[in-house]
Amino acid sequence: MFKRIGVIGSGAMGRGIAQLFATAGVEVLLHDSRSEAIDQALAYNRDTLERAAAKGKLSPEQLDATLARMRPAETLAALADCDLLIEAIVENLEAKQALFRALEELVAVDAVLATNTSSLSVTRIASGCRHPERVAGFHFFNPVPLMKIVEVVRGERTAPAVIQRLAALAEQAGHFPATTPDTPGFLVNHAGRAYGTEALRILAEGVASPVQIDRILRDSLGFRMGPFELLDLIGLDVTQAVMESVYQQFYQDPRYTPSYLVAPRLAAGLLGRKSGEGFYRYVDGQAQHEAEPAPAPVAIERPFWLDSRDSAVREQVAAVLAAAGAVLEEGSPPSAQAICLVTPLGEDASSCIARQQLPVARSLALETLAGFAKRRVLMRQPGLDAQVLAQARQALGADGVPVEVINDSPGFVAQRVLAGIVNLGCEIAQRRIASPAVLDRAVQLALGYPHGPLGFGELFGAVRVEQILHELHEQYQEPRYRVSPWLRRRVQLGLPLTTPED
Ligand code: NAI
Repeated sequence: MFKRIGVIGSGAMGRGIAQLFATAGVEVLLHDSRSEAIDQALAYNRDTLERAAAKGKLSPEQLDATLARMRPAETLAALADCDLLIEAIVENLEAKQALFRALEELVAVDAVLATNTSSLSVTRIASGCRHPERVAGFHFFNPVPLMKIVEVVRGERTAPAVIQRLAALAEQAGHFPATTPDTPGFLVNHAGRAYGTEALRILAEGVASPVQIDRILRDSLGFRMGPFELLDLIGLDVTQAVMESVYQQFYQDPRYTPSYLVAPRLAAGLLGRKSGEGFYRYVDGQAQHEAEPAPAPVAIERPFWLDSRDSAVREQVAAVLAAAGAVLEEGSPPSAQAICLVTPLGEDASSCIARQQLPVARSLALETLAGFAKRRVLMRQPGLDAQVLAQARQALGADGVPVEVINDSPGFVAQRVLAGIVNLGCEIAQRRIASPAVLDRAVQLALGYPHGPLGFGELFGAVRVEQILHELHEQYQEPRYRVSPWLRRRVQLGLPLTTPED
């Protein structure tokens, strides 16, 4: 185990890393090229720990011992005795390489050098060292003590023992070590690409507004934050850098294509919370949410017809229509007055209506895969009669559940985003960037998703997810929506998505 850790760079990440390991019982020396940054970091950590002690989360003795384990190192030379050096300096390849070269002159030959880089190649950082086998990535998340995960990144030349020691240290500190090879975005920032980019794509196609997309994904898939709230929280500039970097490093694979909507927003300073306005406006740090539209009530004069033969779906829809005093027709074809509800999986409303030869003015789509309890989603198409839409909207919300009306799109909103997350997770598993279990746990811990990508796939059904992707691929004719071989094979063989390759 490591005896003394040197942390270089005492900003947001460095101070968090120092606090984590000091709390776990390891001696930590904190360095920064600006000595005031060291003092500020130590004062910040003291304040945080004192508040934790005041709440009874740590005894007075533990507080004193933890504070005593964190000390300043005014010079780099003061780190000579450390057996683990973790850098959290500026995100710049040359600066990190220069630091590691300087450290190699100072520390013992078996000391480990770890980098907290979030976007640079660990192998490239190590390539400037005489002993690249002792260099690894140790990628924490902000705020470090609370985000109970760290990516332990294996550079091309990193010795297996170094990875094992870092993983053991992480566990000692109560963090989950997600071991992963040195690939673009590592594990978490790679897996996280599907959520925001697909949401931006849906926005760009005019399917729904940011606030609608956020509401749908929170209520239908259980995300704590919608993608646009998340973009605002992290800062559009920060996310755009990750989106661009992952896209370029994968040689412009269309799966990762960033959105053309972002550059003008950056130029306009719409960065999110930190600039006061992004997809939302912020007053005193609070997002200003407009109230959901409440359309004027209309008389429901028409019966409804539903294309689904699934008895659970029919029961749900019949129950809410009954609450509205409306009738659900049995049998086929629909009567000449009926409002026809179609329930596509992956198809857009237009295709689904045309395929079933339903009356264009009286037909629209209802989302039944992702969420019916907290929010309902109706999808219109260009030929829909406005009165039909008004009646459908009122009837489907008769029990008080909000109804979202969106424009035509293959896979509505939730199906599209769900399929993107699952497919990318499958691709990550296929490329051996993480095992199924590590992937799902890492995504839940680092990104706060209610399920990991493979867990999401199992919950909604891998067969359905594959169908959604198949339809998206058909409609757009873009390799962006190609099905991962991992997903296809497990569907073909009837195996869970979590089944390992060998
Ligand atoms: P920060 O700007 O808060 O802190 C960086 C500190 O490093 C500053 O105090 C600066 O004076 C010091 N520094 C710069 N060059 C130095 C050098 N050559 N020698 C010694 N000290 C030097 O930055 P932050 O956010 O703490 O990020 C640090 C690293 O962690 C970056 O590589 C970043 O990409 C990575 N990271 C950041 C995350 C975040 O959410 N902020 C998450 C995960 C990784």
